[in-house]
Amino acid sequence: MKTVNIGIIGGGLMGREAASAFGRWFALNDFPVKAELKAVCDLNENVLSWYKNVPTVEQLTTDYKELLANPAIDVVYVAVPHNLHLELYLDVLSAGKDLLAEKPFGIDLEAAVAIKEAAEKSGRFVRCSSEFPFLPGVQRVISEVNSGNLGKIIEIKAGFLHASDMDFNKPVNWKRQTKYCGEIGVMGDLGMHVLHVPLRLGWKPELVFAQLQKIVTERPDGKGGIVPCDTWNNATLSTQVTIEDEAVPMTLETKRLAPGETNTWYIEVYGTQGGVKYSTKDTKALWLFKMGKEQFWQRTDLGFAGVPFPTITGGIFETGFPDCFMQMLAAYIAEREGVLNGRFGCATPDEAVESHKVFAAALQSAKTKSVVNIASYETQPA
Ligand SMILES: NC(=O)c1ccc[n+]([C@@H]2O[C@H](COP(=O)([O-])OP(=O)(O)OC[C@H]3O[C@@H](n4cnc5c(N)ncnc54)[C@H](O)[C@@H]3O)[C@@H](O)[C@H]2O)c1
Repeated sequence: MKTVNIGIIGGGLMGREAASAFGRWFALNDFPVKAELKAVCDLNENVLSWYKNVPTVEQLTTDYKELLANPAIDVVYVAVPHNLHLELYLDVLSAGKDLLAEKPFGIDLEAAVAIKEAAEKSGRFVRCSSEFPFLPGVQRVISEVNSGNLGKIIEIKAGFLHASDMDFNKPVNWKRQTKYCGEIGVMGDLGMHVLHVPLRLGWKPELVFAQLQKIVTERPDGKGGIVPCDTWNNATLSTQVTIEDEAVPMTLETKRLAPGETNTWYIEVYGTQGGVKYSTKDTKALWLFKMGKEQFWQRTDLGFAGVPFPTITGGIFETGFPDCFMQMLAAYIAEREGVLNGRFGCATPDEAVESHKVFAAALQSAKTKSVVNIASYETQPA
């Protein structure tokens, strides 16, 4: 069986998640390609030393150029702060490697466009991380929409909500500082996750009115001091999409201060004949709206059977974050090998750029307190 050799640059939270998924690749049933983590780069030696536990890893380095010079590596997953995306992603492509990029695919629209153009020029296989669509519940939302059962679609709501920043004593990190995270703040952190499914369904926001909030403006630095925390914490975007020649409202929320919410990703689609909703808050539950003499929401408990890439896990067992992350990696490798076979694929460079247009227009909307035409960002990066 063919083996694809993987390198990781940035071995922190997401680097370890990827290592864990590649480490149990054998759990995928009848998957035609093996993927093995061979090399890891991180600036921090303590972070690197964790990877000594991973038996397939042959190269550990603090210099990503050493990893890129390794001829054995086919694909590089890069999970570093947003201010480094552009430089590192371009270097991966110049080294002739394929790229699984972390979101938001550059610190701003200009960087995202530059990465997309470099990807096209290089001919390398490039995708952007966004794992939630691979959950069975989200797959069902997509198939319900595509089935036409909902009738005329009249409203869409999607969001990604965190509450950990409700703890005002939580020390600052790079995700709360504009110079590392980007001016788009929480939208850059959570927005690709929220827009991936709508964009894939053809719902491209045309207009946006953005309410952006800076709620916590300073935080402990973890060393006894207080430092600025200057990113947008919460973003509520009222957007408009066109579906079958009708203007339809689509609300997108990305929030770091959403009381009680721990990594809650959700989508709700309402139509004249039916509706569908799914949230990771209740990970098994798919909700379908039915019209009859009475109107009602029907709950179905979904199990593992609905993942795009079957594994050894029993069909009634529930899925979680590590599972959808592994499914996303399987989709990346399958599409790269030409065996996606109609299944859901990872976010494309085009989709990442489209998400950045929404974020750039949202910044403009918040600044001018007005509705912004997102199409104007086709030609004028912010
Ligand atoms: N897909 C998801 O669900 C998800 C979740 C969280 C974060 N992310 C994204 O993943 C990326 C990383 O986030 P994280 O939470 O893993 O951050 P993290 O801070 O936990 O890890 C980043 C790592 O990059 C290393 N690093 C920094 N500069 C480097 C360099 N020049 N060379 C090599 N290593 C370097 C750091 O030492 C650190 O260990 C970001 O783009 C973030 O938006 C995605």
